[in-house]
Amino acid sequence: MRLAPSILTADFSRLGEQVATACETGIDWIHLDVMDGQFVPNISFGPPVVRSLRPLADRYGALLDAHLMIVEPERYLADFAAAGADLITVHVEATPHVHRAIQMIHDLGKKAGVALNPATPLSMVEEVIDQVELILLMTVNPGFGGQTLIPSVLAKVRRLATMLGDRPVEIMVDGGVHPATIAACAASGATVAVVGSAVFGEQPIPAAIAALRTALAD
Ligand code: DX5
Ligand code: ZN
Repeated sequence: MRLAPSILTADFSRLGEQVATACETGIDWIHLDVMDGQFVPNISFGPPVVRSLRPLADRYGALLDAHLMIVEPERYLADFAAAGADLITVHVEATPHVHRAIQMIHDLGKKAGVALNPATPLSMVEEVIDQVELILLMTVNPGFGGQTLIPSVLAKVRRLATMLGDRPVEIMVDGGVHPATIAACAASGATVAVVGSAVFGEQPIPAAIAALRTALAD
């Protein structure tokens, strides 16, 4: 399972330094939680932060993954693509035109993901599982880092893994992933784990990442 640190909980006054430190431990996927204060009750950042991290991502060979927790995401796909996102994920609850949004992301030359909130059924992605590179299952209610993983979503992860079969689609879990929960996420079939407060918390970043890897290896 790959780790995808979310910068939501990072210290934005030292963002580049903290992302570089994470990448120096072998991290090759950075998760960017974009929030508009409408789709979720929080505001985070937009394309300028993606643009500022692009040279760092190039230096370390890291993928920049923009998780758009915004309404009508089609309005900003080109901006996030131009800013340097490699993969752009939209919420199926945020647009009536998910198929078109995925096509737009691909037309911009980027990988496409779709995201589901905890209560949104898998049936909402049934018709696009052969179109996307990633499916993100929120394991908390979106908007904030540091929340507790919702255990019932792990059964949803297992059902998604069954639905996908051997399709080359990443299954991402996002929210509440810590050393105590990451093994269960992997056992359920998740292939990428977003880790925010577990990485950018009290512990030094290398130790925090090592703890997650140890928990996975156990
Ligand atoms: C919620 C965010 C968080 C973040 C991860 O909208 O998407 O899930 O990425 O936060 P932690 O790992 O601290 O739960
Ligand atoms: Zn996220």
